[in-house]
Amino acid sequence: MQSMKAFRSEFQPRNDDILLTSFPKTGTTWLIALCHNILSLDDDGKEEDDVLKKMNPHELAPPLDVNFLSDQVQDLLLDPGRSGGRLLQTHLPYNCLPESVRNSGCKIVHVARNPKDTLVSMWHFYNKILGPFPVERAVESFCSGVLPWGPFYENVVGYWEESNRRPKEVLFLKYEELCRYPEEQVRKLASFMGRPFSSMEDGDAEVGKVLRYSSFNRLKELEVNKNGVWELHRLPNNTFFRKGTVGDWKSYLTPQMAERIDQLTQLKLQGTGLSLDDF
Ligand code: A3P
Repeated sequence: MQSMKAFRSEFQPRNDDILLTSFPKTGTTWLIALCHNILSLDDDGKEEDDVLKKMNPHELAPPLDVNFLSDQVQDLLLDPGRSGGRLLQTHLPYNCLPESVRNSGCKIVHVARNPKDTLVSMWHFYNKILGPFPVERAVESFCSGVLPWGPFYENVVGYWEESNRRPKEVLFLKYEELCRYPEEQVRKLASFMGRPFSSMEDGDAEVGKVLRYSSFNRLKELEVNKNGVWELHRLPNNTFFRKGTVGDWKSYLTPQMAERIDQLTQLKLQGTGLSLDDF
């Protein structure tokens, strides 16, 4: 079996690959579903044929960061896939991506989310898979940066800066903007992916279809996401769908915790031009 190092240096993305990047719990599942549904418009399929009815979105975008020596991921990576692009995903910070990826022409989309909702979403996620622990501990880990794929701010800022340096290859999206301006943001995403929607009525209908098929309420209620398991990580699919809103942190963080995170956010984003608000 290849070593992880060899695979990393040998893995060559194709120019039409799209690498979806995110810090965990910032909207990865949604982003995968949106990209999948944008690419699927070419198939002209009916809703009953939608593979998302049978698969958790994560199964459609092999992760580059963990378990990528597993047969399942290798098969997916070797699969020529649909013409015009495979979707891949990673939580790795930009500076940890293999050079073969950073130097390739493959497109990168990053989705970011405000830190307080990210933290609360992550706390719920780990509560579910590891067992309950107090929110104070989650705040402590978040602020000290000791987190899987962390620290949060460095991960996000790395992609933000790269999106400013290489806007044609790196697109930076925000969960809150996707919630607030879904049509506009999906049009932006599709154009970046090289599949722009028409500005005519049929374009609006396609945007609506992509948003409907990728919506939280639809995906959460699908049988596969209620009771299925993502075998690669042995994670119940329902752990990826909780509330799907902006500002849920208010129900869990004390004013002191919120203040501590806000101050850290201000410090970490100073001079970057990036804001991560929960408007
Ligand atoms: P909450 O825990 O705040 O509800 P990730 O996909 O990166 O793991 O992020 C998970 C977060 O995105 C969870 O947030 C989850 O509910 C939300 N989410 C999952 N699918 C979504 C969708 N289709 N639309 C909006 N939010 C979604």
